[in-house]
Amino acid sequence: MKLAEYAVKEKIINLNNENSFDNLVIKKSKLSDNKLVYQNSQQGIWLYQANCLEFMDKLIEKYPNGIFDMIFADPPYFLSNGGITCQTGKMVSVHKGDWDKSKGAEVNHAFNLEWLKRCQALLNPNGTIWVSGTQHVIFSIGYAMQQLGMKILNDIIWEKPNPPPNLSCRYFTHSTETILWAAKNEKSKHLFNYADMRKENGDKQMKNVWRFTAPAKDEKNFGKHPTQKPIKLVERCILASTNPQDLILDPFNGSSTTGVCSIKHGRKYVGIELEREYIDLSIKRLDSEIISKLNQGN
Ligand SMILES: C[S@@+](CC[C@H](N)C(=O)[O-])C[C@H]1O[C@@H](n2cnc3c(N)ncnc32)[C@H](O)[C@@H]1O
Repeated sequence: MKLAEYAVKEKIINLNNENSFDNLVIKKSKLSDNKLVYQNSQQGIWLYQANCLEFMDKLIEKYPNGIFDMIFADPPYFLSNGGITCQTGKMVSVHKGDWDKSKGAEVNHAFNLEWLKRCQALLNPNGTIWVSGTQHVIFSIGYAMQQLGMKILNDIIWEKPNPPPNLSCRYFTHSTETILWAAKNEKSKHLFNYADMRKENGDKQMKNVWRFTAPAKDEKNFGKHPTQKPIKLVERCILASTNPQDLILDPFNGSSTTGVCSIKHGRKYVGIELEREYIDLSIKRLDSEIISKLNQGN
């Protein structure tokens, strides 16, 4: 059944026109077409094919005091530089895409500072940001957060129980990623759904080490993104730091994992992605999630 057939059943999320992302017009640039490619205003879901720096500049013009309750950002890790890794038992070179190539420590850091600065401006005073990364990028992110006066709340360690083996046998097996959770600034009174996290953890305080497997097969039903995050991981970040109907941004949308989790939990979402291939994958995932939600009558 097609999405349109469900239109009348759709739950209307209260968004006045002021806070709708339907009609943001930004000019096509050398970097991107910068256009709206998916929207479901009733559910509060928007996806733009855009360069996130240009698009966030446009958002800042419209919302100079911030608008987002939470941002999840999974930026390029800058690790596609001819190294090797193991994929389904085979040695393959690491090439996730040109967007993932390192341009040197200085340029990589300057980029991180630029997009983080825009995210900080777009957060509500009490909003928070989660940024994931490996050793290739996470120190730069942490330093940029300090330079911008953000308040780092936690460094979450995502532990992967089944990581690919290290083929060179010259290092420990890489089996973790870090997710930095930070508030807009030192004055922020950030939201933490402590009781929900405690309940999820068998009535004990939840630690900052989270164990989740890589995305399950059914999370890749519509195709693969090379650095897709597991639903359970992003879901936990959302449930820990937002309330229903809050507004979430992901400036590096990829396959829309953050969008899918937002729909699942009744949050509004704006995603920004550069590559058409991942936009097409995202549209299928977002549509499917909305249909399954409406089927459940939520
Ligand atoms: C690490 S991936 C995000 C994966 C995502 N979390 C998921 O679960 O699918 C980073 C994404 O950012 C996109 N990207 C890179 N630079 C960008 C930019 N300047 N503006 C917008 N998107 C960008 C890439 O095309 C890639 O899909």
